[in-house]
Formats: sequence, structure tokens, C-alpha cells
Amino acid sequence: MKVINVGLLGLGTVGGGTANVLNRNAQQISRRVGCEVRVHIASVRDIGAPRICETKSFELTQDPYEVVNDPSVDIVVELIGGETLSKELILAAISNGKHIVTANKALIAMHGTEIFAAAADKNVSVLYESAVAGGISIIKSIREGLAGNDISLVAGIINGTTNFILTEMRDKGRSFEDVLAEAQELGYAEADPTFDIEGIDAAHKLTILAAIAFGTPLQFEKVYTEGISSLHLQDVAYARELGYQIKHLGIAKALEDGIELRVHPTLVPEKRLIANVDGVMNAVLVKGDAVGNTLHYGAGAGAEPTASAVVADILDIARALNLSEDSKNAPINVPALAFEAQSIKERKVMQPKEFRSAYYLRVDVNDVPGVMSQLSTVFAEYGISIEGITQKEPAKGELKVSVIFLTQRTQEGLIDDAIEKIQGMPDVLDKVTRIRVEHLD
Ligand code: NDP
Ligand code: HSE
Repeated sequence: MKVINVGLLGLGTVGGGTANVLNRNAQQISRRVGCEVRVHIASVRDIGAPRICETKSFELTQDPYEVVNDPSVDIVVELIGGETLSKELILAAISNGKHIVTANKALIAMHGTEIFAAAADKNVSVLYESAVAGGISIIKSIREGLAGNDISLVAGIINGTTNFILTEMRDKGRSFEDVLAEAQELGYAEADPTFDIEGIDAAHKLTILAAIAFGTPLQFEKVYTEGISSLHLQDVAYARELGYQIKHLGIAKALEDGIELRVHPTLVPEKRLIANVDGVMNAVLVKGDAVGNTLHYGAGAGAEPTASAVVADILDIARALNLSEDSKNAPINVPALAFEAQSIKERKVMQPKEFRSAYYLRVDVNDVPGVMSQLSTVFAEYGISIEGITQKEPAKGELKVSVIFLTQRTQEGLIDDAIEKIQGMPDVLDKVTRIRVEHLD
């Protein structure tokens, strides 16, 4: 039986998980692809560090170029992360004619165009299923399963760490720091967890999803990005009382006059499935003109869920190599970004003030007569329709009350202008809290 040799760059959470899955499921795998797929060599930074996988059956090195330059390696799997060394290694591997699998969303979002062009020149594949939403096959679903559709919306929970943090804080009252530390221990968080907390990781993933859904370039710099660090638990509780959950969503919307690319905490009605996706789980809603709404659900991070997607990519390449007459050269015949490279087109990306959404606003005011009517006057002045108002009773001995407004869909520029005016009012005590509301219907 033919043997396909895998070289792993990195043997941490995902690398170790990948070695374990390839090893444990070796028989199933060879039945699926008609050849043997095995780890031949792996590189690590610290050769003495403990591993989650056995390392006796392959060579272990501290020099990643040994992997990239090894003539026996057919597929190089990059699981180091970051954008510098990983990019150099991938480009070197491509120039050596190796096929690539990577889980590195930052690298694909920022340098994918260059990497895919280099791969096309050398007639090799670069697959990255595990880069978005962990174990969910969302890249394959959009790129292949939904290829007949005109896609108008991709929206979802695409960062496991933030969803895990929000769920644990809401359900168990745990502190942010405590849950983040657990997410790091479980291997969910990025090497720099601010990427998770501040929405950068989700923005990398949204960059990729938007490109493959709309046939637009990878354009991370145009994604509006807000994380969860400024979210108050008080708003999570108030949203719940109103029949919503607050989820950190990535949203890519195609509209007549452009596309919206945004990542931020969002109120989602409790009756939507996405509102009930908790813990490290991810879910991505894709709306196509033919299929309607589809929802893709599964673990968004962690060693083996991510390895599941990494191994699927390895097997796609192994199968192609096994069937090919030319044992080294068998690219996957699906465009890297779902659309033929020459047909990728720019579309206007909407500025935040042009976004259209409904809004949750919390205004903390002095409990004195006339305040409500002043607030209502401002909303009326900007043409903002209010769907509902709730006033929270002041704490004992306090005069401050929180007033919650749910608006109808309106333009963000109008909301921001109204907020600016409201914040100048003498009885408004703190910064107004503004969270977008998406009905996802
Ligand atoms: P880890 O930190 O667990 O593993 C990184 C691996 O790369 C380690 O084996 C480390 O070696 C090695 N490494 C790090 N820096 C260097 C370096 N400078 N030179 C050589 N080797 C180096 O990361 P993860 O496995 O969590 O993540 C890997 C990639 O997968 C990232 O791109 C991440 O964004 C992505 N990803 C992660 C998911 C997850 O759930 N963790 C899910 C989806 C994608 P050593 O072990 O010796 O330190
Ligand atoms: N840090 C990422 C997350 C890993 O929590 O979603 C999976 O991409």
C-alpha cells in the first residue's frame, strides 16, 4: 500500500491532536483513502517538553526546516501559528513542491493571497479547513456544498474562547480572568489571548468566510472589530430578561450597495438556535438564495475537534496523491478561495456609520421627572423608532436608574448621533451602552 508522509510543524494542542487522530484511526483512514497516511517527522520548539501524543514512531526535530526540506514528506502541516516563521516555512515548503495544510487563520487572512498564488505556481494545494470554526466543515460547506448559491449572509459564533467565557460567566457567575485561564489550560485560546478577547481571531475567520462566500478579496483591515472586554454582565442579564442572549458574532452581509463585515457582541433572540450555542461550541449560519438558511454547528476549538478538520484536509490531499499518476503533483481542483483567482472582485465595504441594525441601549440617568420625555425627543429627532423601553428600579438609597431601549432597525450613524446628544444631557450619568441586535431571520 502506498504511504503518504506527513511532516508536522508544531506538536502542541492541534499538532498533538492531529498526531493522535492519525495514529488512532490509521486503519479507518487507509480504508477511506486507499493508502497509508503517517506522520514521518515533526518539529517543536522545545524537544524536552511533555507531549499529548506519542513521539516514538516519527522523527522529532527542533529545526522546522528539516520538515520543510525532507524529500520524503508529501504534505507539510503548519500548526505553529503566527505570521512570520509560519509564512516563511509554508512558502519554503511550497517551493519544494509540498502540499500544505494549515490551521492558521491569521496567516490565511493576512497573507493568503500571496500563499495561494505561490501554491498555484507550483501546482500544489493549500487547505485550511481547521482555520475557521474548529471541527465544523464550514470551508468545505461554503466552497463546495453551497457552491450553487448566491450567498447573502454568513453569521456566527466563530471564537470558542469568547463563547466559553461568556457562557461560564453567565451561568456560573465565574470571573472573566478565571474562565480565561481555564480556556488557556484547555488549549482553546490563542498564544496571545487578546486575539480572542478583542475579536481579532474572529475577524481573521470572518475575513476568510466573507472571501469564500462573496468572491471578494481577503481584507482583514476592513473588518469592523469589537471584542468582549467592554461587555458588562449587567447587560447580559438585562438582555436575557428581554428574551435575548448576547453572543460574540462575526457577520458578513451582502447588500445591494456593498458588504458589511463586522465582529462584535450581539443580542440574538433566544428562539434562534445560535442564541443557544454555549461553551466552546461554534455555529455558523449561511444563507443562500437556493438553499435558504443553513446552520453549521460543532466544537470551535480544542485538540481533537480541530485535528478532525486538519486530518480531513490531509486526507483530501492524500487521496488525490494516491489516485494521481504523478505521485507528487495532484492539486485539489477547487479554487483556494472558492472562486477562480482571476474572478475575485472588490466590493464596497460599508463603513460602520452605514451599518443597519437594531440596537440595545442602556442609559443610566437620574431618576427625576422629565428625563424619559427628553430621551424620547432625541430619538424622535433622529427618526429612530423604539420597539420597547424597560426601566430598572434604582438600588436602595440610589437615584440612578438604568433605562433600556430596544430600537427598530436603523442606520448606525443616526444611533451614534443620538447617543452623542443624549450623553450631553445633564441627567445622563454614564457612557451610554450600545449593543447591536440581530434577528438572523
Ligand atoms: P500551541 O501553542 O499549542 O502549539 C504550537 C506548536 O508550535 C508547539 O508545538 C510549539 O513548540 C511550536 N512552536 C511555537 N513557536 C515555535 C517556533 N518559534 N519555532 C518552532 N516551533 C514553534 O498552539 P495550537 O496548537 O493551539 O495552535 C496552532 C495553530 O492552530 C495556530 O495557528 C492556532 O491559531 C490554530 N488553531 C488552534 C486551535 C485550538 O483550539 N488550539 C483551533 C483552530 C486553529 P513547543 O510545543 O515545543 O512549544
Ligand atoms: N482561539 C480560537 C478559538 C481557536 O477560541 O476559537 C480556534 O480557532
